[in-house]
Amino acid sequence: MSNKTVSGFSKLSKKDKLKWVAKNFFKDPEAVMHVIKGFWHKDAEQQRIIDGFSENTISNFVMPYGVAPNFIINGKEYAVPMVIEESSVVAAASAAAKFWMQRGGFTAEILGTKKVGQVHFTWTGDPEKLHEDFPELRKKLRAEAADLTANMEARGGGILDIILQEMTHIEPHYYQLKCTFETCDSMGANFINSVLERMGQTLQSFAATHPAFSDEERDLTVIMAILSNYTPDCLVRATVTCPVEDLGTFPGGMSAEVFAEKFSTAVRIARIDPYRAATHNKGIYNGVDAVVLATGNDFRAIEACGHTYAARDGQYRSLSHCTVENGTFKFWIDLPLAVGTVGGLTKLHPMAKTSLELLGNPTAEELMMIIAVTGLAQNFAALRSLTTTGIQKGHMKMHLLNITNHLAATESETKKAVKYFADKSVSFSAVRAFLESIRSAEEVEL
Ligand code: MEV
Repeated sequence: MSNKTVSGFSKLSKKDKLKWVAKNFFKDPEAVMHVIKGFWHKDAEQQRIIDGFSENTISNFVMPYGVAPNFIINGKEYAVPMVIEESSVVAAASAAAKFWMQRGGFTAEILGTKKVGQVHFTWTGDPEKLHEDFPELRKKLRAEAADLTANMEARGGGILDIILQEMTHIEPHYYQLKCTFETCDSMGANFINSVLERMGQTLQSFAATHPAFSDEERDLTVIMAILSNYTPDCLVRATVTCPVEDLGTFPGGMSAEVFAEKFSTAVRIARIDPYRAATHNKGIYNGVDAVVLATGNDFRAIEACGHTYAARDGQYRSLSHCTVENGTFKFWIDLPLAVGTVGGLTKLHPMAKTSLELLGNPTAEELMMIIAVTGLAQNFAALRSLTTTGIQKGHMKMHLLNITNHLAATESETKKAVKYFADKSVSFSAVRAFLESIRSAEEVEL
């Protein structure tokens, strides 16, 4: 066994964990400890809270926290918090928000709020008996979970429905209980999973004791009880629309009509071609994930759900849609978003709590609308660039600034570089050569 393995790591103090990592995996342990410690929170209490979110923590990984102002959603103004490491995303969201602010803003509506959970089980008995006795079982499932659902019911939520799905034609002896839930302002994962595990127990005791079942039918195996992150009925729609002529003119003198046609074709391409759809939807999730992260929600769940939804008819497709009809441009997205504004990290993480406050402490439904709108804005900004100037123009300016930064250019050198590269391709070597040329010219002058 290599000396780079360890037992009892989780029991070490934070400092000892850090020392062990530094000593075993870095050439200069002192230097790396200095870097890692540099990201410890200066306030020990805040650090304790952050450490509590995960395990084996040795430091914090910092991400930029930006704000995209000027979002008008259903007539209300928002400044949207965004946590993202990719340059240009927040700028693009802000630009799209401003563009649509001048054209009436975004509208958004909730199409559903149902969450889903499943108890997967196998049973070798007579399927007919299970179907026949299911109404009785359903009552028992609800009754035996009543202590777990009481609070949620008091808030207006709880179990919506429980159905029995026989899947024996796909997998021998396999069934599932497919349950739907309303979890109000919470994402509801803990609630749903607790209820499902209880249902698993009820299921087993039902089979073990029900008089209609023979001795050979007493054995029911619960394979697993877990929520589904696919929530196609927890859905929000965000829309922008305006007369085509109000879209204005675009770089290079492109008319509103030409823009609208190119833009809607770009959306259709993402509908018919999965290669384009993946990139198109990635752009949408640039915005969605950034707000999901900023508000302490689970971006993996949101992405898993969205991509499953995008492939719901068997082909992976664009999540957004566009029509240009009777002189009207309409661009919209239907997005499944199971998010919460209470529970989880939402109130525990100091920055998530701050984000929610910045958004006016929205309900989960309002947050769904804000997130969908941000995704739509991001998609609009990306397609606007792609169908007019191309994406590299904006990106390359940021790229250039990253390179000048890396090469320790002064402010005046950076200004010269920006001017010089305005009509030229940016590459690391070209920028280095340019900086060297102006630096040596200055030396000659001296
Ligand atoms: C880059 O992060 C996102 C885009 O590629 C999205 C798109 O192509 O639609 C610009």
